Amino acid sequence: PEAPLVDPFGRSIAYVRVSVTDRCDFRCVYCMSEDMNFLPKRDILSLEEIDRLCSAFVRLGARRLRITGGEPLVRRNVMALFRSLGRRLGGGGLDEVTLTTNGSQLERHARELADCGVERINVSLDTLDPAKFRAVTRWGDHATVMRGIDAAAAAGLRIKINAVALKGFNDGEARALVDWAHGRGFDITFIEVMPLGAMDENRADQFMPLTELRRGLEESLTLTPSAYATGGPARYVDVKETGGRLGFITPLSHNFCESCNRVRVTCTGTLYMCLGQEDAADLREPLRRSESDAPLVAAIRAAIARKPKGHDFVIARAARPAVERHMSATGG
Ligand code: GTP
Ligand code: 5AD
Ligand code: SF4
Repeated sequence: PEAPLVDPFGRSIAYVRVSVTDRCDFRCVYCMSEDMNFLPKRDILSLEEIDRLCSAFVRLGARRLRITGGEPLVRRNVMALFRSLGRRLGGGGLDEVTLTTNGSQLERHARELADCGVERINVSLDTLDPAKFRAVTRWGDHATVMRGIDAAAAAGLRIKINAVALKGFNDGEARALVDWAHGRGFDITFIEVMPLGAMDENRADQFMPLTELRRGLEESLTLTPSAYATGGPARYVDVKETGGRLGFITPLSHNFCESCNRVRVTCTGTLYMCLGQEDAADLREPLRRSESDAPLVAAIRAAIARKPKGHDFVIARAARPAVERHMSATGG
């Protein structure tokens, strides 16, 4: 058996986020530019290659996989990957296969995801107002996403709603979002917007520290620290009035990197050891070079050995983002 992955700071890497496409049917303003250039097909790993890559990580001790994008459910035949990964749940080494989705294709796929062994999903939803939803996604349809969420709930999937907090856009809606999510039995997390990709003029102005959003919520809600934790960046509180769970993801106002448990792989097989750093390792070349996994495993180990301590995002009105690539390229 292989020795598990531990980085230079003693952090065990047992969680891998795998992006299956850089494409998306939305263009959220903080995630993509309006005129994105998508990658040519030949650069993208096949689903079989992604599956093989996942197996290698599982052999190296990864227990949890999160499938991301872009929007993972726009990749053709992506359910074949979920079926294959699902077979490795339980005795096959995996504790969990999940995904982060914009919800647009959930109506069609929710049942099958549940059948593959997916138990919980994260759905991005920044606003309950259809017109504002269209604005932030540039053309997304709110009603379609709502039907997707309904289908996921009906299929028995546990749901976490992700809302990126944007000052002057949805901060006034925070209480309504919490009430809506908790009323339906969903967890919800608010997220501080991170300086990734081409920054339009508004992004720095829209930055909303979650300490401030939280203070606002506490005017009418009682929040107490929750025992719930996924090992991820969200810090959860229980909400007395709703009986639900609320999380805060605060890369800027409170750095959580010391407990980082994760790395991410893009759809071209590039391994990023940190969301907020440029250093990366190419896994596609070793994957394609040999039928044997030995070169791939060596490349993964060498990369983990230089996982950085953390990001250095700062709240700044700087014209230059912390990293040039868009969030959609790395999968969040
Ligand atoms: P769990 O698997 O339940 O821990 O989910 P999660 O909340 O980590 O995943 P999700 O895909 O819902 O991501 C929510 C937000 O957290 C997104 O904006 C991600 O970009 C951000 N995020 C996730 N992991 C990291 C990380 O390691 N560093 C930073 N800075 N942000 C992260
Ligand atoms: N900052 C913070 N969160 C972001 N997301 C996309 N771009 C950014 C950003 N710049 C969120 C999406 C989704 C998750 C995967 O990442 O809303 O919920
Ligand atoms: Fe698509 Fe998600 Fe990025 Fe929005 S945040 S453009 S839904 S990948």
